[in-house]
Amino acid sequence: MSQHTVTLTDNKTGKTIELPVVEGTHGPPAIDVSKLYREAGFFTYDPGFLSTASCTSQLTFIDGNKGQLLYRGYPIEQLAEKSNFLEVAYLLLYGHLPKPTEYDNFEHVIMHHTMFNETVKNFFDGFRYDAHPMAIMVGVVGSLSAFYHDSTDVNNAVHREIAAHRLIAKMPTIAAASYKHSIGEPFIYPRNDLSYTGNLLHMLFATPCEPYEVNPVAERALDILFILHADHEQNASTSTVRLSGSSGADPFACVSSGIASLWGPAHGGANEEVLKMLDEIGDVKHIDKYIAKAKDKDDPFRLMGFGHRVYKNYDPRAKLIRQTCYDVLESLKINDPMFELAMRLEEIARSDEYFIKRNLYPNVDFYSGIIYKALGIPTNMFTVMFAIARTAGWISHWTEMIGDPAHRIGRPRQIYNGAAMRDFVMPEDR
Ligand code: ACO
Repeated sequence: MSQHTVTLTDNKTGKTIELPVVEGTHGPPAIDVSKLYREAGFFTYDPGFLSTASCTSQLTFIDGNKGQLLYRGYPIEQLAEKSNFLEVAYLLLYGHLPKPTEYDNFEHVIMHHTMFNETVKNFFDGFRYDAHPMAIMVGVVGSLSAFYHDSTDVNNAVHREIAAHRLIAKMPTIAAASYKHSIGEPFIYPRNDLSYTGNLLHMLFATPCEPYEVNPVAERALDILFILHADHEQNASTSTVRLSGSSGADPFACVSSGIASLWGPAHGGANEEVLKMLDEIGDVKHIDKYIAKAKDKDDPFRLMGFGHRVYKNYDPRAKLIRQTCYDVLESLKINDPMFELAMRLEEIARSDEYFIKRNLYPNVDFYSGIIYKALGIPTNMFTVMFAIARTAGWISHWTEMIGDPAHRIGRPRQIYNGAAMRDFVMPEDR
């Protein structure tokens, strides 16, 4: 059978080069340009990686036109309905759904690595009381490599696995400590008898003064949100983790770089921005003004929680989150006018020519903040919640990359368009 290839012709020299085409299980084929420079002297140019696959991966598949998302082949809708976050984390990390004993062992390992080294607590005192929790996360997660030397040898598969477990286990504890620091309350130690999300709620909201009972509605809602946020193939933060890791950097440093990337408002920071935007809009009667601002190219304002690089159809996660939002508000008997406002904003935007033409739909962040708010989680913690869930994806991608014998240091090329070579000018002649 002949191999699928693509032939490129240079219309300046008439030279041709044949390039192999790589096909995955699903998705469009890709032209393998890895030999292009060596054989033809060209780089490829693709700012923002609009058409470039940076790696092969077996973790997650997205069909942006259909609005389809699969983790290890399983549709996100089925995972959200039938699974839980820890099972999904196992699936992402090991590639298969765990058998009952595998799940029990994994849950045991994760829930028995939830504490961090006691001296890590000292780091929190170094941050001002009003530090953004994402800033604390970047620093404290990055510091973990200074504590866990027995899991930083990236060439050792056992070290890699221990680091993955530690990161998934300790992220909620660090996140809750960041929050407690910001409100001046004592840290609450993890409780290993609770579920992953139940324990997080406990560490966020319990105090030493009275008993705290985990609300099962909040626990399940958080679990669904975490499943939906667990992975999303080569997004900015995951690509950052992979690029950091490609040099052999330790996993704690790599995940810290992913947290930094996630924080940006065009990425995971959008969930916080959505609530600020809804707050600013304030009332249904102001929506038109903000839609006009979003369409105005001279105005930097964008409709936060709208649009996606890959989805040109409804983000399947946003659909599930909108339904969860209904369920949570109803179960907790909360009447939040912000939800009404968000739904009306979606309706108006979705019937506007500008948004229709550009295929701009609500993304995962549009409704998630309303659920977090209903659960009592403050706005500046929204992206932190995202980071906890995405750690499962980050560390699974990192593990996949390091374990791939074909992996090399990530080193993009550039088109230099600065000054041509020139001679140094002495100060008196400038
Ligand atoms: N509001 C108004 N216009 C928008 C929006 C928006 N939210 N998103 C995209 N557009 C417009 C752009 O101005 C552009 O218009 P043009 O063709 O006339 O120039 C067109 O739609 C395409 O948008 P790009 O910015 O080129 O698309 P890109 O793939 O680079 O960006 C992004 C995707 C960053 C998500 C963008 O849609 C955005 O900024 N959205 C708001 C922030 C947000 O919600 N981010 C969360 C994404 S999901 C996540 O990371 C978890």
